[in-house]
Amino acid sequence: MSQDKDINNLVSLAVEHLRKGELIGLPTETVYGLAGAIDKNQAIKQIFAIKERPFFDPLIVHVASIAQAKSLVTNWPPAAEALAHSFWPGPLTMVLPRASSIDPLICSGLNTIAIRMPNHPLALAVIEKMGTPIAAPSANKFGKTSPSRAEDVRKAFPHLFVLDGGLAQIGIESTVASVTDSQISILRPGIITEHEITKELHRHGINIPVVKSESSASPGHLKHHYMPEMPLVLIDQISAQRPKWNFVQEQICMRLKISPVSLGRELLLSKDPLLAARELYVNMRELGDAKPDFIYIWREPENRGGIWDAIWDRVEKASSVQLKF
Ligand code: TXA
Ligand code: MG
Repeated sequence: MSQDKDINNLVSLAVEHLRKGELIGLPTETVYGLAGAIDKNQAIKQIFAIKERPFFDPLIVHVASIAQAKSLVTNWPPAAEALAHSFWPGPLTMVLPRASSIDPLICSGLNTIAIRMPNHPLALAVIEKMGTPIAAPSANKFGKTSPSRAEDVRKAFPHLFVLDGGLAQIGIESTVASVTDSQISILRPGIITEHEITKELHRHGINIPVVKSESSASPGHLKHHYMPEMPLVLIDQISAQRPKWNFVQEQICMRLKISPVSLGRELLLSKDPLLAARELYVNMRELGDAKPDFIYIWREPENRGGIWDAIWDRVEKASSVQLKF
């Protein structure tokens, strides 16, 4: 009972900060967000400022109901209705035509807006209590690893009020998909895959193409994102057996232009892609904190397709070097 009271007090405090135009660290099921009220221009400016994020990279707006999502757009295609019912609350962000009432800064001047309903009780409680949607990019400095724990947010932004919602259960950012009447384009892969989206659309009797299009349409989707503190080396295992480690290490050090006796630490992931996604950023940070000369990760041939695509997308963007053996 008293624990519920404590949680209610923390949610009220979070809402107080947001109403004053201040930012908070908001837990979601994917990664923590750096949240500000969508109707406070000062707060939105502050998000870009403290994240050191360029203004051309638009933010995701978080809602607590489908009605709220509809209030942000000028078109709500049947596919948006279907996907919202199938996947919300959850890690799917839909890009839709933006209502003119939205601060253009949130959408970097684009005529579209990215919207999702997070599947985290604290995030939903805060948005419901606010009564208005909340803009939130991932709560990391631009280009750095996204935070999956409250302490990761506090480390990047020591003065921020952070609502602690525990370890983010998904662990990597949402799937971003542009949704129109005639097509779905996946702009950023996530644990909700092309296959799952297609299956759900069919179940709702909607037969439109679902295509992958990780292009500049998702402007934040740049190379050299998610960078850990140490160089990360992605090693593709293409032959049946791995070569001797001494040889691999020599090649890595040559490519990184570091001493051949440098010490690397391996980033190990679970064989289960859902667990691998949850662990990815936590393990990256913990290895980085141990300050090895480099971090390396093996991509095995069987770990491909589906959710693995979303994981390797993050690893590729975080890596400074890729090798094949
Ligand atoms: O899981 C998530 O999505 C997390 C949590 C906090 O919700 N948020 C997140 O936000 O990852 P952020 O800002 O780090 O990534 C948002 C992505 C960027 O790649 C951005 O370019 C894209 O969404 N995006 C936002 N608005 C867009 C738009 N109107 N058109 C195309 N892409 C858009
Ligand atoms: Mg981000």
